[in-house]
Order: sequence, then structure tokens, then C-alpha cells
Amino acid sequence: MADQNNSANLMVAGDREKRVEGFSKLTREEKVAWIAQGFLEPGSYEGDLIASFLHPDAGVQRILSGLSENTLCNFPMPYGIAPNFLINDAWYAVPMVIEESSVVAAASSAAKFWSARGGFQATVRSTVKLGQVHFSYKGNKERLFQAQEELRSRLRMEAAAITANMEQRGGGVLGIDLLDFTHLEPDYYQLLVRFETCDSMGANFINSVLEQFGRSLAEFVEIHPAFEDTDREVDLIMAILSNFTPECIVHVEVACPVEALEGACEHMDGPAFAEKFRKAVRIAEIDPYRATTHNKGIFNGVDAVALASGNDFRAVEACGHAYAAKDGAYRSLSHCTVENGIFRFWMDLPLALGTVGGLTKLHPLARLTLDILGNPSAPKLMEIIAATGLAQNFAALRSLVTTGIQKGHMKMHLLNILHHLGATEQEAQAASAFFKDKVVSFSSVREFLQLQRIGGIIE
Ligand code: MEV
Repeated sequence: MADQNNSANLMVAGDREKRVEGFSKLTREEKVAWIAQGFLEPGSYEGDLIASFLHPDAGVQRILSGLSENTLCNFPMPYGIAPNFLINDAWYAVPMVIEESSVVAAASSAAKFWSARGGFQATVRSTVKLGQVHFSYKGNKERLFQAQEELRSRLRMEAAAITANMEQRGGGVLGIDLLDFTHLEPDYYQLLVRFETCDSMGANFINSVLEQFGRSLAEFVEIHPAFEDTDREVDLIMAILSNFTPECIVHVEVACPVEALEGACEHMDGPAFAEKFRKAVRIAEIDPYRATTHNKGIFNGVDAVALASGNDFRAVEACGHAYAAKDGAYRSLSHCTVENGIFRFWMDLPLALGTVGGLTKLHPLARLTLDILGNPSAPKLMEIIAATGLAQNFAALRSLVTTGIQKGHMKMHLLNILHHLGATEQEAQAASAFFKDKVVSFSSVREFLQLQRIGGIIE
């Protein structure tokens, strides 16, 4: 620590200021100036790049800046639509926010493919969410467990002011379990609490209830006569929701006779494609290296809609990966069978989502997403997001077991390079034709354009 202070104090003239006190108190312009002075080469950014990414409407910018801290500007990402999703016999055009090329195209293509084969069937199993109060207690364990029924009523009663509103909406605290972990860590116990938060993600609600439970628990042990001649001190360690919500599950699936898979691939008939596809999924069930990439493909779809609808995609990912490892090994989230001539592809995905409150209310584009999706309830959004994840997984595997993934990627890659090199429409068309059956690289495209521009002919 002393060294750190010294180095700050000993900064000699000409050194670039890289350490700062009170950064958050600077105005946006001052923050930008400080960053430029300390971390960017002088003149390395022409014009005011940062300011150009502010929203022109000051009111909107205020909302966006207020979502986080120390905001300099916005970081735009493409907001696209994957149309033709038929889910439980209803049509959806699904908004997706993602920076990776081919993902929206793949989702759209899989959605269209399955819409001609009955679409996606999705069912929400439950929307139960979880939270924990972690605490240490050195006193009499038996007394604690004997008093638990009374403790539960006390906790509920003292949190009534916080839960009243949610209860009116049909949610609230579903159950409170007292768990003993002293075999793993001395004196460590836990309250595991189950919640229903209706259409809200419910993080603030859950955390407020849990913190109140923590206070009530400590007080209960302090004053209850059962603990008269034993330790009365509960040491609260922390109270926080769990992002692992293995009960909050949506099941989504597609199915059709193997013959109906005709057309999934140019070079394979339906049964051959079904078997190769099944094997690809099976590999992800048994090999964690493949499972990680396989599930990443699912989250390409899931995260993109979670983000577009203003949901916490980090929570969604964390939960999904924990669920993928729930039986001790990390496995594929999706599964496939080919039995009695029927191809079936499905997954059970935990998704803790909200369609009211939080960002869904604040962010104008999250609102737009929910409008486009017909203002779904949280369970309906679970179905849509799970279907998008499964569509994405289907599209990725279809490419992998047939043409390979690079064909589609290279097309997008070529367009990006052409755009970067300022190709005209005519040049882009010529390049697309030329690279149809060739490997795309930055240098090969640049060389092609150079030759085009000096009138060279490439065979
Ligand atoms: C790329 O973002 C996702 C894939 O790697 C998924 C997969 O391999 O299944 C194509």
C-alpha cells in the first residue's frame, strides 16, 4: 500500500496520470479528457469519437448513462430480427442483440425450417426462484432446529411489509428451509428460501426479503426463551439470491418423422441427417470440451434475446452452465433421439427472467422488444428465448454435420472485409462471385480489389 502511494506521489513531470481520486465526481467531459490525456496517444482519435456515440436525445442519454456508472458514451450493438418463429402455434419475430455474424441468419433459417414441421413446442415447468441467508451459529443446534417452525412464522411476519405487494400479484415467499452445513464448515447454516416473483425477475424483491430475514433471524435467537442458556449470537455472513434456479425451467422441443428432415441438407437424405445430427448431440452429452462449444451456440441465441429484452444475460448464462453440470459432469443442455422413425430434439433450460420492472421499463429498446413479442408474461418470454436457443443449436449442428461452419461465416467475413476496404456495390458482387469457392482472407480480398481497381482480370 505504502509503495502504491509513493509511486503516485513520486510521479514526475511528463508522466501520464494513470491514477485518479474521485473519478466518478468528474463531469463526462472531464472523464473523457482525463482518459485521453492518460491513456491515449495524442491525436490518435480524430474528432470526438466518444461524443459521437452519445444519443442525440438528451433525455434518452440520461436514462442510458444512469444504467451504469462513469459512462462516457454508448457502445452500439446490432439489433436484428429473426422472423418465422412458430412457438406453441403462435408466430413471433424475435429481436436479437448480438455482435457475431451469422447468428441471426442461423436462427431465422432454423425457425423457418421448423415452422414448416409443426414449430417449437414449449412448456414452462416452474418459475420458482431461490435465495439464501448464510450464517454462523455456535450455539445449540437442536434448539435452532426445534424452533424452526416458529422462526419461519416470525420471518414471514416481519417481512410482510415487503412481501404484501408481491403476494397481491400472486407471488411471494413459497418456502423457507433451514439447512445444516456444519459437516462442511464449522458453525455454518443456511436459510434456503423459495420465491415466486411473477413477471418480474425479482432480484430487488428477493434480496430485500433475504436481508430482512437475516435481521429477523438474529433477533429471534437473541430474544427467544429457547436460547436462554445457549449462545444467542447469530453471525450473519451474507444474504443474496442464488442465480442457480434449477426449478425455474422451460422445456422446448421440435420433432418430426425422419423423412420430413429431407431438405435439411443437400447431400444427405432425412434418415442419414437425423442419425448424424443425433450423434453430434450425443458427443456433446459425453465430452465436456464439445459440450462447452455446443452450449455456447445455444447461448448465442439465448443471450441475444435476453439482452434485447433487457434481461440479465450474465445471470442466465451462469445458471445455464451450472445446470449443464448438475449431475457432476458438464454436459450438453440439449438432447436428441431418433426412435421409431421420429426425430426429436429438445432441451430443458433454467431461465430466470422478467418482463416488468428493471431495465424492461427503462430501456426504450427493451420496451420495443417486448412490444414486438406481444408483451409476453415472464413464462411466455422463457418459451421464446428457449426456442431461440434451440433454433440456434439446431442451425449450428446442421452446418457442422453438413457443410461445416466456415462456409456461412466466410460469406459474412467477406462482406465485413469488403466493407472495411470501402468496396463499391459492383466490386462486392464481383468479389462474392470470385470467392464463392475460395478461402477468404483479408490479404486475398485486398489483392482482389487492387487488381479489380487497376483493371486486372482474375480467373
Ligand atoms: C459459434 O459462435 C457457435 C458454434 O461454435 C456452436 C457449435 O459449435 O455448436 C458454431
